[in-house]
Amino acid sequence: MNIELSERLKQLPPYLFAELENRVAEIRARNVEVLDLSIGDPDLPTPSEILRVMEESSKDQANQGYSSSNGEPYFREAVAEWYLKRFGVRLDPAREACALIGSKEGVANIARAFVNPGDRVMVPDPSYPVYANGGAILTGGRPVKLPLLRENGFLPDLDSIEAEGAKMMYLNYPNNPTGAVADDDFLRRLIEFSLDNNVIVCYDNAYSEMVFGPECARSILEFPGAMDCCIEFNSCSKTFNMTGSRIGFAVGSDRLISGLAKVKSQIDSGPAPFIQRAAVFALSQYKDRHPPEMVSRNIEIYRKRMDVLVKGLNEIGIPCEPSPATFYLWVGVTGKSLDIAMRLLEAGVVITPGIGFGELGEGYIRFSLTKEESIIREVISKIGAAGISAR
Ligand SMILES: Cc1ncc(COP(=O)(O)O)c(C=O)c1O
Repeated sequence: MNIELSERLKQLPPYLFAELENRVAEIRARNVEVLDLSIGDPDLPTPSEILRVMEESSKDQANQGYSSSNGEPYFREAVAEWYLKRFGVRLDPAREACALIGSKEGVANIARAFVNPGDRVMVPDPSYPVYANGGAILTGGRPVKLPLLRENGFLPDLDSIEAEGAKMMYLNYPNNPTGAVADDDFLRRLIEFSLDNNVIVCYDNAYSEMVFGPECARSILEFPGAMDCCIEFNSCSKTFNMTGSRIGFAVGSDRLISGLAKVKSQIDSGPAPFIQRAAVFALSQYKDRHPPEMVSRNIEIYRKRMDVLVKGLNEIGIPCEPSPATFYLWVGVTGKSLDIAMRLLEAGVVITPGIGFGELGEGYIRFSLTKEESIIREVISKIGAAGISAR
């Protein structure tokens, strides 16, 4: 039988990380220790209080069946309450919120609701690969690059964007992979751009709680006009160390939410109800805009790890500054990022080559702070011995 991939699937770019992953597996098979700072998956556990609620809820048969695909009403109400406490944003939980099986699912499915074949979808470069691949390409859309340059604080230059024919735009702050944050002025101008050009904004706020300074990250929905043109994605994954529980949410314009919910109703049946119960408990720990102790203790751990990594890299001649947010450090290097990743792998360290996030990620590598300080120190000494050069 002749089995062929669909044209859309064939259009996906080659998976650049595959070669690296194969090499990691080969080296591990030789029982050589590999220190992995490549994965954006917290090494810290889901807080025990949340796990208790998950366990107890799972015993109740009412939480064992299908959910509604846009989430149970109690979950959407908890999301609306969280948005009010955390961002001062008032949402109608029936129309302006939707549960997600992790925010990745929503980020991909939103394109199915609004992108027609050939539509232009603006995608930052570098960025989380799901926007271009799972979002634009798999719906027949055409990804168009929005350059994120260091000299612009890794924000797109809104004045130079050619908006003609564009349907949708993905943005993500606090940003993976650069660690950059967006200021209020940028977010205001972004909404103006969106309304003037009729471009839907998909704002990925998955790292909203992972900020090191005194200022909390904003929701785009805090700004006037956003409820007409924006959908925002958030998640319990990074905030509560719940990546495996697959629970996130989308909020914003009722028309965008209802399009997303319509797609989801044909594809999935929502997150497990006992996971929604656990997420309700987690979100309810917020009393105001500041993270509760179960979140702030993790941020403190990542802040210390960031300091150890930055100080260590500077000491071995790789200049870099701490990221203001996220658990990623984006470091400029000389040479091809995949070659550097391979060289570091030979030295027993895995990092992510910047090219995996887009062409403009070339010349950078990304460190993820998802290992304890002692391992980060070991990584620095291995990198020092391998001798890579920075720019
Ligand atoms: C920018 C960004 N958005 C969304 C996600 C997906 O998170 P989840 O699907 O676990 O909510 C990730 C995960 O790494 C991410 O980096």
